[in-house]
Amino acid sequence: MSRLNIVVGVTGGIAAYKAVSLVRQLVLEGHDVHVVPTESALRFVGRPTFEAISRNPVHTELYEGVAEVRHVAIGQAADLIVIAPATANTIAKLAAGLADDLLGNTVLASRAPLVVAPAMHTEMWQHPATQANVALLRERGVTIVGPAVGQLTGADSGPGRLEEPETIAAAALARVGRAPSEASASTASDAPAPRDLEGRRVVVSAGGTREPLDPVRFLGNRSSGKQGIAIAEAARARGASVTLVAANLEVGAPAGCEVRTVQTALELQHAVAEAAATADVVVMAAAVADYRPASVSEQKIKKDASGDGLVLELVRNPDILAGLGRAPHDGTVLVGFAAETEPDDDRLLELARAKRRAKGAELLVVNRVGWNEGFAADDNRVAIIGRDDAVVTEAHGSKASVAHAILDVVVSELHHAAEAAPNH
Ligand code: C5P
Repeated sequence: MSRLNIVVGVTGGIAAYKAVSLVRQLVLEGHDVHVVPTESALRFVGRPTFEAISRNPVHTELYEGVAEVRHVAIGQAADLIVIAPATANTIAKLAAGLADDLLGNTVLASRAPLVVAPAMHTEMWQHPATQANVALLRERGVTIVGPAVGQLTGADSGPGRLEEPETIAAAALARVGRAPSEASASTASDAPAPRDLEGRRVVVSAGGTREPLDPVRFLGNRSSGKQGIAIAEAARARGASVTLVAANLEVGAPAGCEVRTVQTALELQHAVAEAAATADVVVMAAAVADYRPASVSEQKIKKDASGDGLVLELVRNPDILAGLGRAPHDGTVLVGFAAETEPDDDRLLELARAKRRAKGAELLVVNRVGWNEGFAADDNRVAIIGRDDAVVTEAHGSKASVAHAILDVVVSELHHAAEAAPNH
């Protein structure tokens, strides 16, 4: 790979010490690394450390080097900017486009792809202001790496921990690995995805099942399959080999995925079970009918034969996700969905937490649905509940950007599953 000019922005958090290792890795890969710490970052790690590790002078001051117009020169020369750790404050400044220090100026003066690795306490990460800022950055095409879930600085643990330096370095290099010069001119929607699912097998169920009553009628639901398709597409773009179990999609399946077409819950169960046997990730985005008619009429049901009313007998369908969740699935990340009509935010999250536990899924993505919300829309708003019942992240925007936000959490989960594995 040709030598890249990489700016590493470091902001003021305890995790700043991990930036030293990130810088070292990028230097060892042969890149020219320029560290731009904020004033508060230097309270955690001294300038000489960054200078020695990056092998370049380190500047923080806006009014140093004015003759060489440094406040824009560093950003203009960069092929890639990585900010790690990024505090809630810096994320807010990036979202607003503030440039009151050298790092802010560097980012604004640059067309290079931006990769941001947040690190902060769980409450700060989950604050609606931070979540809105992160969503805005994602929509602009910024790659967000992490945060991971784990032990934080104090006694607490939860989402907010800086991703490991290797993960950040890999995601950052993947971001430009494909075509740095094109990437710098790209827009949010065609920004290259990180190849962080390379070699992974991902199964996604999408759409809504249809349970036949007779040769012409069925019991169904309003799921269009758009969110599931967006996840399949995003996973493929991030390097995964993807099996899409497609239940009555309203839109075409994406190219490059193996597609298994199904109609009913039982067909979906069969297809998912087969594909899940070798999968690293199973995302159950499909809306599966909980009940099916006890019997399917061979002939079209006649209204004359049933008089003024018609009673249908229904039987329960198997809960496919709960079946996967109950079976040992070491190393496989199961992602469930909950589409709920509950209007109260807190109660919505409580329902989602209970559902995640009941299904045995590692992650549960919850969104609100209603007559005018959720299903056929092109945008979505979700919260993701993790294994410790905390809201790992919230995302809103296009279904494609929500898909990437979900996969960011999946990648972090895979990483931690590997760390927890006995032979790691
Ligand atoms: O219980 P509920 O239908 O709300 O759960 C939704 C989640 O469970 C979704 O991920 C859906 O794909 C999955 N599910 C399933 N089998 C069913 C019903 C739902 O796998 N019979």
